[in-house]
Amino acid sequence: MKADQVAKVLVVGAGTMGEQIALQCAGHGFAVVVLDSDAEALTRAQGQLAGLGSALAGDPAFAGADLVQAVAAITYESDPAKAAADVDIVSESVPEDPALKGAVFAELDRWCPERTVFASNTSSLLPSMYAEASGRPDRLAALHFHQPVWSANLVDVMPHPGTSPETIEILLGFAERIGQIPIRLHKESPGYVFNAMYNALNREAITLATNGVAGVEDIDRAWTTVMKTPRGPFGMLDFVGIDTAWHITQYWATATGDPQLLANAAWLKGYVDQGRTGVKAGKGFYDYTSGAD
Ligand SMILES: NC(=O)c1ccc[n+]([C@@H]2O[C@H](COP(=O)([O-])OP(=O)(O)OC[C@H]3O[C@@H](n4cnc5c(N)ncnc54)[C@H](O)[C@@H]3O)[C@@H](O)[C@H]2O)c1
Repeated sequence: MKADQVAKVLVVGAGTMGEQIALQCAGHGFAVVVLDSDAEALTRAQGQLAGLGSALAGDPAFAGADLVQAVAAITYESDPAKAAADVDIVSESVPEDPALKGAVFAELDRWCPERTVFASNTSSLLPSMYAEASGRPDRLAALHFHQPVWSANLVDVMPHPGTSPETIEILLGFAERIGQIPIRLHKESPGYVFNAMYNALNREAITLATNGVAGVEDIDRAWTTVMKTPRGPFGMLDFVGIDTAWHITQYWATATGDPQLLANAAWLKGYVDQGRTGVKAGKGFYDYTSGAD
């Protein structure tokens, strides 16, 4: 298969990123099916995508597309066997856990056509952690998006040592076809390019708050005032999802045993346990229930 033959995309995980990737692919003319193990997540995604389709209709990022119609054509599925039919690319966005990602790919390997390329949107894991489990290591690589996907339109294309060169060419070409600017990584590296820099910022911001050096709002104020950005690290983490930030921090805290990372993960978990996972919950570090943001 060549990049210009890709026609159908299976997006796995109907959460924050899966929704945006589904929109990006549908808005660039691809047939899209969204798979999630949670029926409620699928229903929620369908509603959110309809809203996004209307809100972004006419946006230059989707020039020439009838976004409302494109979104209406997306299909939703909870059965991997049905979702995998005739799919060219799988874009995986399930939670940040190598065992889960491996299991999801292994299941899809049973049902997807031979040609199907498996693309993982992991934030901080390495595809080699689940390459063997995926059942098709040569056709697995990272295709990592940034959010919002349509405007922060950069993707990292990262092989693991067993990824075939053809797979990378397919993903580079596919990325351009969905309006993304691909960055070709020459080898596996946690956090890719932008996130390697961004994760360092988040780690330091969370460390300052965890250690009681300054409050969340002041830490954000320090960043926004000097850098002249609309949001600081915590405001941005509300868009990422504090649960996702916790998953990432917890994974590396456990893997390294670093006491500061363990404390940072515990501090983030406090927000998750209160249901304050960020914009998607209406509340995170900040309150969005007034619709002010
Ligand atoms: N949030 C971000 O800004 C961001 C950016 C880039 C990459 N990522 C990465 O993308 C991935 C997903 O992050 P997210 O923020 O969209 O998470 P999320 O929690 O919003 O969504 C995850 C979805 O996966 C579903 N899921 C769980 N197990 C599943 C299974 N076995 N089969 C199918 N679906 C399953 C859940 O029901 C949920 O709907 C993570 O690896 C994350 O690190 C996140």
